[in-house]
Amino acid sequence: MLKRLILVAGSCSSSDDPSVRQTPLLSPSDEAELSREFPGVDIDAPAPPRAEAHAAHAAVDARAWRASALDLWAFDTHLHALDARGPFDLWIGGLERDGAARTAYEVLTRCQRFIRRRNLASASAVFARVLGRHRELYDLDRPLVRADYDHAVDVWQWMLRLEPRASVAAQAAALFHDVERLVSEADVRIEHRAADYQAFKDEHARRGAALTRSALADLGLAPEVLARIGALVGSHERPGDDAELALLNDADALSFFSLNSGGFLDYYGPEHTRAKVAYTLRRLRPEARARLPRIRCRPEVEAMILGEPRRTSAPAPVETQA
Ligand SMILES: [Fe+2]
Ligand SMILES: [Fe+2]
Repeated sequence: MLKRLILVAGSCSSSDDPSVRQTPLLSPSDEAELSREFPGVDIDAPAPPRAEAHAAHAAVDARAWRASALDLWAFDTHLHALDARGPFDLWIGGLERDGAARTAYEVLTRCQRFIRRRNLASASAVFARVLGRHRELYDLDRPLVRADYDHAVDVWQWMLRLEPRASVAAQAAALFHDVERLVSEADVRIEHRAADYQAFKDEHARRGAALTRSALADLGLAPEVLARIGALVGSHERPGDDAELALLNDADALSFFSLNSGGFLDYYGPEHTRAKVAYTLRRLRPEARARLPRIRCRPEVEAMILGEPRRTSAPAPVETQA
């Protein structure tokens, strides 16, 4: 679990020298906003003493991040390994005061699935069982299954950012909304072959609802809550007027852009990604869409959002340390 964010003006390798940090990188209001959006993370924590500097952490160079010159697959792999071992720190190096808050916001958004915040509704034994059942279903050694698990947790976290009072049913639906892909797309994706994309997605949602009701049937959820979870999963590919359904669509769509869109582009290529971007933008309400400028996407995806296709480019490695 991500516990501390350490911001460094110089490179991360020199950050155990306290002299590199002479002025605060965040204003009090920026720090307060980050703490509010990412509860549970110690924002702008002091760099640990030299003896602890090699404690479990990942490091990102802010200049590479801003240039989108990151190997996010390697970064994620490193974060997964750290997370499996316990609490870890995230360092962002190469920062200047101008832009530090924006970079921290973007990086924490990309890493929010390692925070796993809950609210009062989900801080319960029954929701712990829901989380446990969800985790059991996913074989994280299979790359596409791992990607789907990460997306599910990320959607859940987006939901709590957008609506801190989200219900148990909405949160469980966020976790299980794409569970059907464990059946249809665990080893290879097929959605780009669908003759009717919306019909394919509607069927994915309908089957997902049945799988969800079955997976959660014996966990002690109230019958009306279980029914509500199934209803939300069963219609999650169409926003509609229902507030929780719209919330699920907002969270799902934002997760596509902040977590999945780069990998989606690599897997499917620009043509299907352009169609997916258009489909996903239609699922966002204006308030949620207003968050897009603060999400870091690959330049090709940002261009698609703006309706301006660009040529793809290969990413460069990210600095990671254990
Ligand atoms: Fe879906
Ligand atoms: Fe999804």
